[in-house]
Amino acid sequence: MSAFPFEISGRDGAARTGVLKTARGDIRTPAFMPVGTAATVKALTVDQVMSTGADIILGNTYHLMLRPGPERLERLGGLHRFMRWEGPILTDSGGFQVMSLSGISKVTEEAVTFKSHIDGSRHVLTPERSIEIQADRLGADIVMQLDQCVSWPAEEGAAAAAMRLSDRWGRRSKAAFGHRERQALFGIQQGSTFADLRRESSERLIEAGFDGYAIGGLAVGEGHAAMCEVLDYAAGFLPEDRPRYLMGVGKPVDLVEAVARGVDMFDCVLPTRSGRHGQAWTWEGPVNLKNARFAEDDSPLDETLDCPASRDYAKAYLHHLVKAEEILGQVLLSWHNIAFFQALTAAMRAAISEGRFEVFRRDFHARQAVRGA
Ligand code: GUN
Repeated sequence: MSAFPFEISGRDGAARTGVLKTARGDIRTPAFMPVGTAATVKALTVDQVMSTGADIILGNTYHLMLRPGPERLERLGGLHRFMRWEGPILTDSGGFQVMSLSGISKVTEEAVTFKSHIDGSRHVLTPERSIEIQADRLGADIVMQLDQCVSWPAEEGAAAAAMRLSDRWGRRSKAAFGHRERQALFGIQQGSTFADLRRESSERLIEAGFDGYAIGGLAVGEGHAAMCEVLDYAAGFLPEDRPRYLMGVGKPVDLVEAVARGVDMFDCVLPTRSGRHGQAWTWEGPVNLKNARFAEDDSPLDETLDCPASRDYAKAYLHHLVKAEEILGQVLLSWHNIAFFQALTAAMRAAISEGRFEVFRRDFHARQAVRGA
């Protein structure tokens, strides 16, 4: 398999930097993928997203199968053409969003059945249907296997059962995906906070053979320290020569610590969601623009970033937009936050290349601690 070459150009401890070469363009790693759940990175145009240096965005099978529907999307030329994003797109398989969003769901050996959070209609998602939607209807570049993620905390027996079901669904996903030149399929490691289960999951995934390997089932309430403890071993269980993707993570501190443990790719709603709620991420930690201390602050969020939202607007103006609930406030803060997350991954790539990642990591934490992030 291995549809896409993954060229690692630098290492520093367990951290790596490189390029995943897809048919629609290169993904520089460590990479942060802005989340474009419903065929839009919320509040931003694709030009704004691209201007931040994002190489790839993420889409969601769950949302798109409910609205506008996979067959309609295919008739309209696929997800890239529909939303006018020409770079690579990774789509999540749907199971995780069923768990977190739909009211009622039922998991059997065959499929996950759920009720839409939009209109209550009933839907069935098998591993085969998830692959068909992602690969054939939407036309995703990177397709995720259907998996089952347990909530946290989990009993070991329940975590083991979900991990083994995810393995069987992974094999069915792979059989449905077949061999493709221009698309890749990633498997997903599960096992909650149990090292033996994470190891078994990885062995099963490697035996099946995927183009890349995700770490699922984290950032579900266990907290930063517990997540780092899992990553201490979980990343190392996965193949050295293929991309490792930590799903749904996270805060800047989570990204830095995961990269230190050998993770290459991330996605998270955090920068756009918190941007819509008046929060900006900076090298000194998160700040809330609603705070009165910004009312007459004439300085920009970050004049070193090559992003108009970060560089050209005073915090006093952003404060005003947020207070007045103006749409532009949501646009500018989402734009800044995505630019900041891209700057963070770019800084990590440079630090790893130049063999100074440990110094970067220490300085990063010291600066973030200024405001107690
Ligand atoms: N997004 C965040 N965590 C997960 C996970 O465990 N599985 C899937 N499919 N998506 C996720």
